[in-house]
Amino acid sequence: MCGIVGYIGSKDAKEILLDGLKELEYRGYDSAGISLLCDGKFSYFKAVGKLENLVQKMQKCSSNGSVVGIGHTRWATHGKPTEINAHPHQASRSFVVHNGIIENYQAIKKELQSSGVVFASQTDTEVIVHLFESFVKDGLSDYEAFEKCIDTLEGAYAILLMTKSSPDTIYFAKHGSPMILGINEDNEKFFGSSDAALIGKCSQVIYLEDGDYGCVTSDSITLYNKEHTRAELAFVPLTVTKLSAQKDGFRYFMEKEIYEQSEVISDTLLGRLSDDMIVFDELDEALFDGIDEIKLCACGTSYHSALAASYLFERLSKIRVSVEIASEFRYREPLMSQNTLFIVISQSGETADTLETLKMAKKAALRSLVICNVDNSSMVRLADASILTRAGIEKGVASTKAFATQMMVLWMLSIYVAKIRQSLTSKQISDEINTMREVSRVTLVKEGMHERITRLSKRYLHGHGFFFIGRDIFYPLALEGALKLKEISYLHAEGYPSGEMKHGPIALADPELFTIALMPQHMLYEKTKSNIEELSARDSTICVISSIEFDKADDFIALESHGHYMLEFFEMMIALQLLSMQIAIRLDNDVDMPRNLAKSVTVE
Ligand code: M6R
Repeated sequence: MCGIVGYIGSKDAKEILLDGLKELEYRGYDSAGISLLCDGKFSYFKAVGKLENLVQKMQKCSSNGSVVGIGHTRWATHGKPTEINAHPHQASRSFVVHNGIIENYQAIKKELQSSGVVFASQTDTEVIVHLFESFVKDGLSDYEAFEKCIDTLEGAYAILLMTKSSPDTIYFAKHGSPMILGINEDNEKFFGSSDAALIGKCSQVIYLEDGDYGCVTSDSITLYNKEHTRAELAFVPLTVTKLSAQKDGFRYFMEKEIYEQSEVISDTLLGRLSDDMIVFDELDEALFDGIDEIKLCACGTSYHSALAASYLFERLSKIRVSVEIASEFRYREPLMSQNTLFIVISQSGETADTLETLKMAKKAALRSLVICNVDNSSMVRLADASILTRAGIEKGVASTKAFATQMMVLWMLSIYVAKIRQSLTSKQISDEINTMREVSRVTLVKEGMHERITRLSKRYLHGHGFFFIGRDIFYPLALEGALKLKEISYLHAEGYPSGEMKHGPIALADPELFTIALMPQHMLYEKTKSNIEELSARDSTICVISSIEFDKADDFIALESHGHYMLEFFEMMIALQLLSMQIAIRLDNDVDMPRNLAKSVTVE
């Protein structure tokens, strides 16, 4: 959600900042902007829409020499996506970029307005730069004014600020939104709200902690922590490579990521399967001592993998499970008991609502575990333990390989817990493990299936809505299929338990209601079949995904015949992802950066 970059050095700052923003664009793409301070002179550029518009506007700008610059790509929270509301925001001598939400901005704005400050934008961000300058006007040094400014702000933020009177300096602060500071051998300094912006540019980074703030010049870094004491510069190597963030000849990142699933699933399993046990080197079995309940908490797609995992944990590990939507959980004064293991699931590790629930769990002294794709993310740093999903960088806003690898880790974890709780025999455990070894093959995209779905997709571009239906663990998969479709096709879609249709939604059935029915051979096949027959009798248009042909279906997507319902789960997942993508392509939508969305939701 929004991307931030910053640079101090003597190379081509414009190119460096634009390149960083390009890497972050998938996080927010309503508008973008850059400001540069070169030889004491400010210049700034803003453009609405995709980053390409900013690139065009900056064509004539040259930024060689010693330059300080900050940039931003926006996902609008306060105020429409207009040029005025785009970052950087300015006062008379300073510019600021910000990610997050300033909760007390209205009170600050009112006070500043009463002392004559005129605001140009509708954003919360603009108060930061005016507040800073008002403190300078009161006689504080730039540094003191910045410190007082961030002490006044409430809410979540990652901030970069530059000002004319400290021409070689970037002031920074982090509280609740991610921010990384990087350096390289050429004495250049970089900021990025995610390491994607820093890959290839710097070798050492500091993942700033909440409450960290300070300033950077070309030859110094001053870092303070939340106690206002000078903090050590704890650099760590930046290990991620750029390779995984390219499209590699695919039309869209989403398509590439669907095709990558087989490979990343192998990575997820690497070193974690033995003949009769799951090996998680990163876990200490003591984490489970005295635990008699698991609470899973997440948002969006990650919530769907949590819900799917609840079926696995109860069926295989025989442990009580509850599943929570993070944005609901955090405000409903939940009861938390200390024999509950609190598990959060997140691709990014930065989702504000999920992160907050993890903080609540820690506060209540619960043991915590995060299943996450991004090492060093806020959640990984906060939780007692973490399991990385190893999906690699996921750029498509619609999550695909993150979901696949989360499901793999959760399935493995259910077997790991089953072993501890002795709820499965050794034979049953090895059977599950042998099945896991097949998932990589099952998730290879078959050209025949892709072609069939491409052809079918033209019949599903209208209608008054989609119902994705399934039973048991295929119900969360149906939810995920519906989420994929709505986020990139903008068509209305709902996921529903098959057996629940007759309790209301069946009233909608007619030929213009599209039902995408998940009919696994090895999970309640006959029950699901009856539910689909009920819909067919009411003339709903039905597309069945199954390995068994079904004569009541209008359309059919054939699966291989598998021996285990989880293999059907993973192959159906591929079919659902392809179906959404092909519908979105036919509708001429932006598959990777769908409207109104952002990859990582760091505001609540
Ligand atoms: O990074 P997270 O897994 O915490 O993100 C949670 C959701 O925002 C995310 O899964 C979202 O629903 C995806 N765009 C769905 O494709």
